[in-house]
Amino acid sequence: MKRIAVLTSGGDAAGMNAAVRAVVRTGLDNGWELYGVRCGYAGLIAGDFLPLGARDVGGIIQLGGTMLRSGRCLDFKTEPGRNEALRNLSENQIEALVVIGGDGSQTGAHLLSQAGLPVIGVASTIDNDLYGSEITIGVDTALNIALESIDRLKVTASSHKRAFLVEVMGRKCGYLALIAGITGGAEVIVIPEFETSPEEVAAELRGAYERGKAHAIAVVAEGARYNARALSDYFQVHKERLGFELRVTTLGHVQRGGAPGAFDRLLATRLGVAAVRQLEKKEYGVLVGLLDGEVATTRLDEVISNKKLLDLKLLETARILAR
Ligand code: ADP
Ligand code: F6P
Repeated sequence: MKRIAVLTSGGDAAGMNAAVRAVVRTGLDNGWELYGVRCGYAGLIAGDFLPLGARDVGGIIQLGGTMLRSGRCLDFKTEPGRNEALRNLSENQIEALVVIGGDGSQTGAHLLSQAGLPVIGVASTIDNDLYGSEITIGVDTALNIALESIDRLKVTASSHKRAFLVEVMGRKCGYLALIAGITGGAEVIVIPEFETSPEEVAAELRGAYERGKAHAIAVVAEGARYNARALSDYFQVHKERLGFELRVTTLGHVQRGGAPGAFDRLLATRLGVAAVRQLEKKEYGVLVGLLDGEVATTRLDEVISNKKLLDLKLLETARILAR
């Protein structure tokens, strides 16, 4: 009998619960014992393990967040911290670990794998910045939440003929802003990967009115040099000359808190099942993700040493479609 642990780490993402459920029930189906680790890597260091049966993961597929809780654990970045984690796993006779999380979490997973622990990563972060998966668990739901807000802001923006700036999450990655901007019909999109000056943003917003639009929306990534705060400060200082005001909405953690949609439930389920299949095959030290629409594996060392690139051609598409 195998004893397997699963944890969720980093920023939570809608669908993490579905992935935990899939890992647990697929593992149980193999006759294995399954354990959840509470609060990400902090729970590994504290030895906070929780036996999980089929009923313990019931009623969670439709819930956002993570029943195991997540966390950011600085101690795990230190060797003594990781050694403590490995000691706890060994004392509890846990033979393998599934890590559901983003690039930071997969860096930790790689270090455990290098230390000899059988580890499988599952691609999960709303930022969609993880090499080895074209889309990660939580992205689709976060995008839909951002879109709902953008759609609502457009309504009030049109009533008042106002310019609005909406900031979305994503850390240093502009994926959420780019896709929310295109699918929300934004007049201008500002992302870290392509610098846009405040004057260029102003020109695009003004251009929208000149072309007869009733609203002008800028979708801005939090990680851009000119994010919501920087742009709104600039517009405040140059208000008279620029000739219009901006209303600013920062969506923040609202994007992370929703219930997973069908896409994320299915993606998380497929990846959770695939993680267990990898353990069966004893092919450890890999991330399971989605590549060309299919479940695929990528070595963790490759995952953490490569950067996922954004398709910047989409920015030009967005510009054309905003005319
Ligand atoms: P995400 O996994 O969503 O990218 P973080 O970057 O916050 O989120 O990483 C989650 C956790 O993974 C961190 O709190 C830490 O415990 C662990 N981690 C991140 N980077 C490293 C690293 N370089 N070495 C070891 N563990 C790391
Ligand atoms: O990585 C996911 C994410 O939501 C980023 O988009 C954001 O920058 C960050 O986490 C926020 O972190 P915290 O929840 O710790 O404030």
